[in-house]
Amino acid sequence: MTTPKHFLDLADMDPGELRAMIEVAKKWKNARAGLDKGVPDADPILEGKILALIFEQVSTRTRVSFDVGMRQLGGTTMYLTGSELQLGRGEAVSDTGKVLSRFVDAITIRTLSHDYLEELAENSSIPVINSLTRRSHPCQLMADVMTYEEKKGDIKGATVTWLGDANNNVATSWVHMAKKFDFTMRLSFASGYGPDNEVLSWAADNNVKLEIVSNPQEAVDGADTVVTDTWVSLGDEEDVFVRHRRLAPYQVTDKLMAAAKPDAIFMHCLPAHRGEEMTASVIDGPQSVVWDEAENRLHAQKAVLAWCFDKLPAA
Ligand code: CP
Ligand code: NVA
Repeated sequence: MTTPKHFLDLADMDPGELRAMIEVAKKWKNARAGLDKGVPDADPILEGKILALIFEQVSTRTRVSFDVGMRQLGGTTMYLTGSELQLGRGEAVSDTGKVLSRFVDAITIRTLSHDYLEELAENSSIPVINSLTRRSHPCQLMADVMTYEEKKGDIKGATVTWLGDANNNVATSWVHMAKKFDFTMRLSFASGYGPDNEVLSWAADNNVKLEIVSNPQEAVDGADTVVTDTWVSLGDEEDVFVRHRRLAPYQVTDKLMAAAKPDAIFMHCLPAHRGEEMTASVIDGPQSVVWDEAENRLHAQKAVLAWCFDKLPAA
C-alpha cells in the first residue's frame, strides 16, 4: 500500500509543494472569474471521488469551502458530525479510519485533539486533511498566504504581526508558515497567552524568524500585515472573562493599524467578534482583506485536495 498524501500540519510539509498548491490556487481563482459558483471547473479532476467531511465542532468557512470545492473539482461530499457517527459513542478512531477507507476516497476532519487526527491518518489508506485541531489550522494558512500575496506580492521577507491570543491553532500555523516561506513572525500577547513550549522549540530548532514583542504598539511597527483571531478558540471556553480582561490591550485598533506600514493589511481567519479582538472600524475598514481571505479558503483548499489526490497540475 502506498502511503496516502495526508495534509495534517504545515510543519511536516515541503515548502516547494506548498508553493505549488498556492500558485495553482491563484490560477484556478482567476480561471473561475465569471463562472457560476455551482458549475464544475473546466477540468473536473476529481470526478467520481467522494470526500467525507467529519466535523466534531461547528464550522462555516471550512465546511462550506471543502464541500463547494470538491463539487467544483467534479467530486461529491458526505457531511458527517461526530455525534452521528459511532465515533460519538466510543468507536475507536483507528477502526473508523479503516472502515471509511473502504467507502470513501478522502477524509477531512475538524476535531480538537491533534493526536486523534494523527491516529485517524495512521489508520486510513486514503488522504486525511486537518480541518482544524486545537494545535493547528493548516488550511487557513494556505488561504492566508494566498491572500497576502494577492494584495502585497511575495510574502518572503515580510513582517507579520499577530496580536492577541498567540496560543491558538491559527497562530501556530502562522509560525509554521514563517519557516516554510521565510518571513518574520512577530507575536504580541498577554502573559499566559503565548505559544506552547513545543511550538517555541520547533521555531528555535528550525531557525524561524520569530519575534516576541509584548508591547502592541512596538509590535506593529513596520508590519506588512496585522493579524488577529478570536480570544476564545474552540475548546477554550472555560475562562472567557479572564481572557477578555487580559487580552484587551491587544485589541487591533485604528491607532495600532496607523502605526504599521502605510500599506499594511488587516487579516482575520473569521469568525470575528467586533469590539473584542479588533474594533469594527478595523475589520470593516479600508485595510481589511478578510472577505477575500475567506473566499480564498475555497481556492486554496481545492489545490490541497488536488495535491492529496496526486492531481495537482503545473501552475
Ligand atoms: N476560519 C475558519 O476556519 O472558519 P470556520 O470555523 O467557519 O470554518
Ligand atoms: N482559533 C479559532 C479559529 C477558528 C477558525 C478557533 O479555534 O476557534
